[in-house]
Amino acid sequence: MYIVKTVKEAKEITRKWAAEGLSIGLVPTMGYLHEGHLSLIKESAKDNDKTCVSIFVNPIQFGKNEDFGSYPRDIEYDTALCEKSGADLVFCPAAEEMYPDGFCSHIEISGPAEGLCGARRPGHFNGVCTVVMKLFNIINPSRAYFGRKDAQQLAVICQMVKDYNMDVKIIGMPIVREADGLAKSSRNTYLSSEERKAALCLSRALRTVKSLFDSGERNPDILKQTAKKIIKDELLSRIDYIEIVDIITMKPINEIKSDALCALAVYIGRTRLIDNIALEVKS
Ligand code: PAF
Repeated sequence: MYIVKTVKEAKEITRKWAAEGLSIGLVPTMGYLHEGHLSLIKESAKDNDKTCVSIFVNPIQFGKNEDFGSYPRDIEYDTALCEKSGADLVFCPAAEEMYPDGFCSHIEISGPAEGLCGARRPGHFNGVCTVVMKLFNIINPSRAYFGRKDAQQLAVICQMVKDYNMDVKIIGMPIVREADGLAKSSRNTYLSSEERKAALCLSRALRTVKSLFDSGERNPDILKQTAKKIIKDELLSRIDYIEIVDIITMKPINEIKSDALCALAVYIGRTRLIDNIALEVKS
């Protein structure tokens, strides 16, 4: 497995693969890999001749008071996991490699980026799109893999790919959860053991919403109120948002007539966690 830090090396290797007619899968990550990421790498290794994983904590997608400085990092552990999971190349550039002096282009995206996390983290999705566009140009993948835990991110990337007529196929992969329901996230490492227990209120609320939906409830207000109550009952929690949105546009809806998503962001202590569940309308 190649481990490369420069754009030049990453381009040379991937262009050589492409010239040989090999398909390339890309799994963009910020590292501190967990089973969610590994499921993306394994899927890519199944679908493609070559799999690249990028590991880059992207400074421009973090707000001023967010956790860029404290975001967990362990590049050696991560590269070992990538190799085990079937990756052929890890691209782990320094910030100066991705954003050298004089860098001055940014993607600006609206539509699905406007509500939910986009409203609470101004500029976040512009930063995500800018780095993902760069990664796509560097690796030139046939397919790119993203987890559905970041459902809004997935919708935003799909919109960008559509708007810019890019050839890459975007693959959304199911949320991977701990045995007790907590969605896997690199940020779970911030939780104390008491907070770890409290964090179960997110998946508990979503499961309850889904079972109400499955028994026929289609009123988003009732579904949201149900989730709200479950989360509020947990003393260490503070709700950032709970929304029922259309699964593609990420806009709030008044009635569930087509596939929707119940998405939430909740602070457990000082840690902000996100999670969601799909509410699929069978036709
Ligand atoms: O989901 C993430 O880890 C990041 O937002 C991504 C897509 C790697 C861009 O930095």
